[in-house]
Amino acid sequence: MGLDTAEPRWFRGPNMNIGQIDASATVLAAATRVLAVTGAGVSAESGIPTFRGAGGLWEGHRATELATPGAFARDPATVWRWYQWRRGVCLEAVPNPAHRVLAEMDDVFPEFLLATQNVDGLHPQAGSSRLVELHGNIHQGRCTECEQVVPLPDQDVIDALPTCASCSALLRPHIVWFGESYRPGVLESALAFSQRAEVVIVAGTSAQVWPPIAVALRGQEAGAVLIDINPESTDLSVRADHYLAGPAGEVLPHLWDATRRRMT
Ligand code: OAD
Repeated sequence: MGLDTAEPRWFRGPNMNIGQIDASATVLAAATRVLAVTGAGVSAESGIPTFRGAGGLWEGHRATELATPGAFARDPATVWRWYQWRRGVCLEAVPNPAHRVLAEMDDVFPEFLLATQNVDGLHPQAGSSRLVELHGNIHQGRCTECEQVVPLPDQDVIDALPTCASCSALLRPHIVWFGESYRPGVLESALAFSQRAEVVIVAGTSAQVWPPIAVALRGQEAGAVLIDINPESTDLSVRADHYLAGPAGEVLPHLWDATRRRMT
C-alpha cells in the first residue's frame, strides 16, 4: 500500500493540513498561555452522539424539546428519564485521544484552561483539571430550591424523582438548558482567560451556540492565534487563523506530536 493511501483522507488535499499543523505547532510550542474550547464533536469518537448530527432523537423527542425549564416544570419524570438514558451513554464511554491530548496540554502549559460545552464528564475523566464545564455536568444534580450541587447516584435509572438531601426539594440535572443563563462566574472566567491567551484551540463544535464561540473570538481579538479542528467547516473555521479539517481524535495527536518535537 503506497503512502498516499495509508495517509488519512483529511491529511491531504486542498486544506493542506500538514502545513497548517506545522504552523499551528510552531505557535503552540512557543506559547505559555493556552485556551481550549471544545464541543460535542470531541466526544463523537467516544461514541456519544453530537447534538446536531444524526441520532439526536429520544423516544420521538428532540433535545430542544426536553432540555428546557418548561419541559421540566411540566414533566420532570420524562426529563429525568431522558437524562438518565443520556447519562448511561456517557457512563459507557471512555475518553479518546482528543481528550487525552487536552489533558496532557493541561499538564504541560504553565497557564491553561479548557472551556468545554460538553456535559459528559470525559474531560475530567481523561485528567483535565483546569477545566470550566460551561454547560454543566450530566453526573451532577442541583437542588431546585437551595441550589446545592450534588453528584448523582451511580444508577442508570432513577425510579423516583431525586430529591435534595439537605432540603428535600426536587433535584434537577446540573445542566444549562435552552433559554437559561449561564451559572454565575462560569462564562466570565473563560472570557477573562481568553483575553490573556496566546493560542486558542477550538475543537468539535458547530459554532451554533454563541457564548462559547464569543470566548474563542474574544481571544483572537485580543491577539491569540485561533486554531479550529473539525471535519466540517463552520462559521468559526473560516475566521480561524488555522483550520485543521479532520476528526479531533486524529488531528489533536498529530498537532501535539508536532508541538512536542518543537518544544524539545
Ligand atoms: P453540535 O452537535 O452542534 O456540533 C458538533 C460538531 O462536531 C459539528 O460541527 C461536527 O462537524 C463536529 N464533529 C463531528 N465529529 C467530530 C470529530 N470526530 N472531531 C471533531 N469534530 C467533530 O455540538 P456543539 O457545537 O457542542 O448546549 O453544540 C453546542 C451546544 O448546543 C451544546 O453544548 C448543547 C447544544 O445546545 C446545551 O445543552 C446547553
